[in-house]
Amino acid sequence: MGKITSALKKAAEERLYRIDKIAKIREESRLVVRKMGNSRVDSRIVSYFDPKALITEQYKVLRTNFLSLNKGRPPKTMVITSSLHSEGKTITALNLAVSLAHTVHKPKILMIDADLRRGRISKYLGVEQEKGLTEILEGKGLLEEAMFHIDLENLTFMASGSVPPNPSELLASDAMRNLIHEVRGKFDYVLIDTPPIISVTDAGIVGALAEGVLMVIQAGRTQRGIVDRATELLHQAHARLIGHVLTNIEYHLPEYIYRYL
Ligand SMILES: Nc1ncnc2c1ncn2[C@@H]1O[C@H](COP(=O)(O)OP(=O)(O)OP(=O)(O)O)[C@@H](O)[C@H]1O
Ligand SMILES: [Mg+2]
Repeated sequence: MGKITSALKKAAEERLYRIDKIAKIREESRLVVRKMGNSRVDSRIVSYFDPKALITEQYKVLRTNFLSLNKGRPPKTMVITSSLHSEGKTITALNLAVSLAHTVHKPKILMIDADLRRGRISKYLGVEQEKGLTEILEGKGLLEEAMFHIDLENLTFMASGSVPPNPSELLASDAMRNLIHEVRGKFDYVLIDTPPIISVTDAGIVGALAEGVLMVIQAGRTQRGIVDRATELLHQAHARLIGHVLTNIEYHLPEYIYRYL
């Protein structure tokens, strides 16, 4: 973790990137999250359930920093990715999407699951959704058929759909370019969840179609060299890295002390 932190500190000093930190989501904190009724939404989407939780506050800081990007004109289309698998991309993107949806002027948000290999957004939200991005890109479905809501009306989701034989080619197709163009006109912000950069090329492809890329880094796990390599791959793909989010940050004081800071 030390190495990563110093690499990012250097980036911050150079004023290249913003860095936000999200506390470790612990098993015990998941259990105390106040779940609403019999909601099927995963308890790790803390921003949805618990407005006062420390982690919700940290996602709000991430939201504030996102909204203040580019002198208050943040990217309308942003890809969320990470170097490796399981760094917390999807959970971070879902919490950011909910947090953005809660802002006072209620912007219209679309979150697209562009992880065509193992997309899990609908699963995290507890929704059965058959059609998704794959079907749209293959011309086998209408946009509306791939979209769904939970109970936040200004927040729309697009599932990944079935696993295609050629995910990278589908994402690199004109159909994907057209889709992003279309939804950009219909929503205020479009967040796009993708697979990790090191293993497959998908995030670079979609990153190049979006205005910015947010890179999630799991503190205590991902080495600096790997982050550097992922950054290089994004750069080669002509994607624009606009910030980092560190997940899994260990705090050494009890959560209630942070709660009211
Ligand atoms: N802030 C956090 N602190 C600790 N663990 C976290 C945090 N955010 C997410 N996780 C955990 O990381 C694991 C992976 O989460 P998630 O599915 O969001 O990752 P991912 O990067 O999207 O994975 P994949 O590469 O498979 O798409 C989950 O077990 C989740 O609970
Ligand atoms: Mg994911």
